[in-house]
Amino acid sequence: MTFTTDQSTAAAFAQSWNNLPAGSIYTHEQFIDWLTPLTKDDAQGKKVLELGCGNGSLLTHMANWQPSLLVGVDLGDSVAAAKKNLAALPFKHWQIIKADLVEWQSDGFDVVYCIGVLHHLQEPRAGFAAVIRNVKPGGQFHIWVYAREGNGVIICLVDPLRKIVSRCLPWWMIKYGIATPLAVPFFLYAKLLFYLPRLTWLRRLPLYQYCLWIAKREFSFFRHVAFDQLITPQTTYLSRETIESWLKNNRRVDQDSVYIISRNGNSWKFGGRVK
Ligand SMILES: C[S@@+](CC[C@H](N)C(=O)[O-])C[C@H]1O[C@@H](n2cnc3c(N)ncnc32)[C@H](O)[C@@H]1O
Repeated sequence: MTFTTDQSTAAAFAQSWNNLPAGSIYTHEQFIDWLTPLTKDDAQGKKVLELGCGNGSLLTHMANWQPSLLVGVDLGDSVAAAKKNLAALPFKHWQIIKADLVEWQSDGFDVVYCIGVLHHLQEPRAGFAAVIRNVKPGGQFHIWVYAREGNGVIICLVDPLRKIVSRCLPWWMIKYGIATPLAVPFFLYAKLLFYLPRLTWLRRLPLYQYCLWIAKREFSFFRHVAFDQLITPQTTYLSRETIESWLKNNRRVDQDSVYIISRNGNSWKFGGRVK
């Protein structure tokens, strides 16, 4: 049951990832923003794993942090694009594995990160357990997910549309017929907020912080984000309370090391060390 749903989600994402130009879709600044508080010192010379690596867009940046081994796992055919993107780098100590992260088991990594994946799983908590399971004793984990908090507009307007189109339309119609026209007002709204003075009352507008972040990118990135939102058959918006309970109830998590950080007002970064 779990496998079937995650498989269709991964297949949907592969339509997105395998139809992008070569290379990372993220800037260096975005990579740092997603990975902070992890730094190069945490990864250099260490075994690093990304669970749910897509087309390797984060892995290509992580390679610059010079881990001793860099492994990416994904259930979808996007592993083809990930292999191409990593093969183009001078860094050679990488491996891309096609597998269901919920079941995949390794000997353990010094650092495991999982960005934008758990909220797309049929069972996000099982994905969290898989992250922890693949960290060596004393190692670190770092996760980013969509928040329930700060996403009212997306949950009310975009998510109902996603539930319909992701199930009945082909990827190209979602991308060009729906995501592209939707990305136009999204792009204009974000750019407007970005160029307006940072007035206190403006901060109350929907997705304000997020818009300041994404407004640094070009239109094609907005379309990619809109397409990503609409193509996936499974999305769960996770509350801080849920994340706190995951961290608290996993016996391997060192409670003194945990952090939960609000990112752009509508998502959570969280992580820590494993005992
Ligand atoms: C939004 S993408 C994020 C990709 C990458 N982490 C990034 O930030 O660019 C989510 C990825 O999770 C993968 N995925 C979903 N369910 C999975 C599962 N059960 N096992 C492994 N990968 C999975 C999808 O195939 C997709 O590539």
